[in-house]
Amino acid sequence: MVQIRDMTKSDIPRVGEILYEGFNSVASKYGYTPQMHSIQDGTTWAWAMFRHGPSERLVAELENRVVGMTCLNPRGLLGGFGPIVVDPHFQGKGIARELLHTVLKRADNLQGLRCVQEAYNPITFSLLYSFNYMPVANLLVLFLTGEVKHKLDPCNNISTLTANDLDELHMYDNPRSKFDRRTDFSYCIKWGKVFVYRYQSQIRGFMACISGSTSVQLGPLVAEGEEEAECLFRHALMVFKGRHCRTHVMARNHVLVKGLMELGFKLYCIDMLMVRGSGSWYPSQYVETFGTFPEGV
Ligand SMILES: CC(C)(COP(=O)(O)OP(=O)(O)OC[C@H]1O[C@@H](n2cnc3c(N)ncnc32)[C@H](O)[C@@H]1OP(=O)(O)O)[C@@H](O)C(=O)NCCC(=O)NCCS
Repeated sequence: MVQIRDMTKSDIPRVGEILYEGFNSVASKYGYTPQMHSIQDGTTWAWAMFRHGPSERLVAELENRVVGMTCLNPRGLLGGFGPIVVDPHFQGKGIARELLHTVLKRADNLQGLRCVQEAYNPITFSLLYSFNYMPVANLLVLFLTGEVKHKLDPCNNISTLTANDLDELHMYDNPRSKFDRRTDFSYCIKWGKVFVYRYQSQIRGFMACISGSTSVQLGPLVAEGEEEAECLFRHALMVFKGRHCRTHVMARNHVLVKGLMELGFKLYCIDMLMVRGSGSWYPSQYVETFGTFPEGV
């Protein structure tokens, strides 16, 4: 019988192993380059989730051995769910289904839950679809290895946000994204950088960035249009000059995607943004891009 319980600090090394093995094995299975280079990358991720990430972290235990994990991140009326991962030796035994049942019970008070799923992975799609998750947008996972192809010019409309500006950022973000992401933004301001695009002192877009050991995560971003969004990307690339970068951009933002590809970004894979809770969230008219941590989706 599988037991679902809250993750504790002592689970971190084992959860790190499962993240590493689970995600790398599925990437290799479908011919994608694995994103984690060592178990240490998985452990770092597990530690970060435990220390700074989603407020609910669950593990699945079978005969006193942790074999899977998932997370829930409520942010106001809506929330994010994921990652969900099961040790490859224990897959196909209904463990992910049990984890999802438990997580959804804890999300009962939320109007909707978002999740990102790799489009190449039919297993996760079937699992989420059976829990009434519906795809609402295609996300392109873009990466840049090193130098950009064109000269970047500074944009005078962009400045770096400080912790004092958190309320202003929230007042811009909340009506547009529909999420309350203050905790995530505090983390980004403390450990990364948040850039803001202003025109005549009004915010017209922002981008939060986190610099990891292997790459810089560009996003989440919200902007009035693709022009502001592209300026924010160009600014971030100047600041993080020469670093590997990664972002999730909506495929529908064609001008932005083309602009990023001209700068040297390449497509790693296509993800699906899935939502549970009918009509609770749809992509708005604003440009939104996504990071991976701590906001996930
Ligand atoms: C996705 C994942 C968590 C599923 O874990 P699991 O414990 O093997 O899943 P379950 O046994 O609970 O199966 C749940 C459902 O997934 C689907 N599924 C599972 N194995 C499948 C297969 N081989 N083919 C098609 N669908 C499958 C089915 O809908 C299944 O439900 P059912 O058995 O009632 O038909 C696991 O494959 C994994 O860790 N993958 C790597 C990490 C990942 O990609 N996570 C998702 C993105 S965050």
